[in-house]
Amino acid sequence: MADVEGLVGARDVKASGSPSVRGFHLKGCEHLDWGMKNRLSRIIKPDTGRTVMLAVDHGYFQGPTSGLEVMEDTLRPLIEHADCLMLTRGILRTSVPPGSQVPIVLRVSGGNSIIGDDLSNETWNVTPEDCIRLNVAGMAFSIYVGGKYEHQTLAAFSELIDAGYQAGIPVLAVTAVGREMARDARYLSLSSRLAAEMGANFVKTYYCENFERVTTTCPVPIVMAGGKKLPELEALTMAYRAVSEGAVGVDMGRNIFQSDCPVGMIKAVKAVVHHNEKPEIALKIYEEEKHTAKVA
Ligand code: R5P
Repeated sequence: MADVEGLVGARDVKASGSPSVRGFHLKGCEHLDWGMKNRLSRIIKPDTGRTVMLAVDHGYFQGPTSGLEVMEDTLRPLIEHADCLMLTRGILRTSVPPGSQVPIVLRVSGGNSIIGDDLSNETWNVTPEDCIRLNVAGMAFSIYVGGKYEHQTLAAFSELIDAGYQAGIPVLAVTAVGREMARDARYLSLSSRLAAEMGANFVKTYYCENFERVTTTCPVPIVMAGGKKLPELEALTMAYRAVSEGAVGVDMGRNIFQSDCPVGMIKAVKAVVHHNEKPEIALKIYEEEKHTAKVA
């Protein structure tokens, strides 16, 4: 029998009125179950409502990529600065220390390579069971709205949403753009909104003119996709504009790991995203880190 000796009944106390277990920091996510909210909170930090995700999943369709030749070497100095890593299960199992506390958003779509004639021919290629085994915080899936395989990617995406709710793992819709697809507010708001309507818990999309139209018409949080390598100040300015115009953060790859000082760059991006630092000020963080690394 349980030890009842010394047990005392409940005291008369007043409710504290603390909202800590009630409100939630992300739009459109208030109705989610505890596990989903907890995972989303690991990705998008409750103290600032923002995130700097480091995208290093490029190999899933293009093999070794400049800056990602040996993943362990790229990741070692960056992991402690990233709020989250976006990568494939192959790289997670081979190149990320299991003791690491960094949350993982696992890419779960794929099925073609850069050699093929149409990159949009993707399907769902990791089961939720494996995501649970890997203790991931989120699952990322590319949808190709307007692409040749639009229906296929959207049908697979719907199934993944159901699986995500079943497992309590949030789904990130990546609004991928084919070679000939526009990256304007009209197209990106269409695909972001469509993803949210289909049940995406958060959305990754590109920055564009009139980005606010994309963020305001999407009922769930948006993270800005990085895109091709830009000069550091331009990349920081793009991140600054994105968060000022409603994004909850960024999911950047090449603009961080292809920088000549990746650690300096991720620190600068974090200053912009979490502290609304102006791009010119954040650039100094990057430059100082670069200088220190040179001297050391
Ligand atoms: C985009 O669809 C993929 O997830 C990429 O492999 C990656 O996330 C792109 O990152 P970035 O454009 O910032 O290098």
